Amino acid sequence: TRHLLGIKDLTEADIQFILETAENFKEVINRPIKKVPSLRDITIANIFFENSTRTRLSFELAEKRLSADVVNFSSSNSSVKKGETLVDTVNNILSMKVDMVVMRHSSPGAPHFLARNVKANIVNAGDGTHEHPTQALLDAFSMREKLGDLQGKKIAIIGDILHSRVALSNIFCLQKLGAEVMVCGPITLLPKHIERLGVKVELDVRKALAWCDVANVLRIQLERQQIKYFPSLREYSLYYGINKKMLEELDKEIVVMHPGPINRGVELASDVADSDHAIILQQVENGVAVRMAVLYLLAAVKA
Ligand code: CP
Repeated sequence: TRHLLGIKDLTEADIQFILETAENFKEVINRPIKKVPSLRDITIANIFFENSTRTRLSFELAEKRLSADVVNFSSSNSSVKKGETLVDTVNNILSMKVDMVVMRHSSPGAPHFLARNVKANIVNAGDGTHEHPTQALLDAFSMREKLGDLQGKKIAIIGDILHSRVALSNIFCLQKLGAEVMVCGPITLLPKHIERLGVKVELDVRKALAWCDVANVLRIQLERQQIKYFPSLREYSLYYGINKKMLEELDKEIVVMHPGPINRGVELASDVADSDHAIILQQVENGVAVRMAVLYLLAAVKA
């Protein structure tokens, strides 16, 4: 494929190949000299129409470690504010001899629209509530690093599933790798008919924690809520917030993950987020290697 738009489009073999390539790049970026010349003839534009810390910096570092030339674009201080369209914006950037576009956008499907209308490899860095494929890949990479093969492993995704692109991409990715997936959250924050995706549904966070090998914890995405959803943050933290005591009551050790940004004291207490249970910063570390793998593999297939 010329693009990475979503995990839904990938086969298990594609995912395995990306993760194996990422293992090699992780070894590379732990060397004293972290850079390889693989993409020295490629120019990449990171275009962000929505805020980001991890994804944006991680893509930029991945590109620089691969020796690509990099330009960064934020819609908030661009001529989008003067009314320029997405396709015009990207075509203007491409006319400066840019080869690949990494895009984050608040509208589900925006990268798919772009892929049909411009001549460049497109990487989806998160499109609204739809998909965040590189997050799912780095999550799977991090789980594999901790637990080995994911076949038969039990992963609970806990939180605001309704507004989460991380949840959907994780569900597709983990199922393709043979894991069992559960979603857990208040019924108001679970998509209708989510069970049709083949996931278990659990409303009780303690039961989800007792079932799983890995808890992937998500934040409440207030910025995506069109109407005021129940519960409030205070109620959410009371009924669904995960703290150390809850983990100590389990008869086993589980791995705690979070894609970030964390709302400390809401979905995760600091005594969990900063504990040895959590691999949150390892996820961020692995994001660079995984994104290097994605860019390296796509660059071989010119648009
Ligand atoms: N996990 C993630 O996508 O974080 P950012 O929104 O900071 O990129």
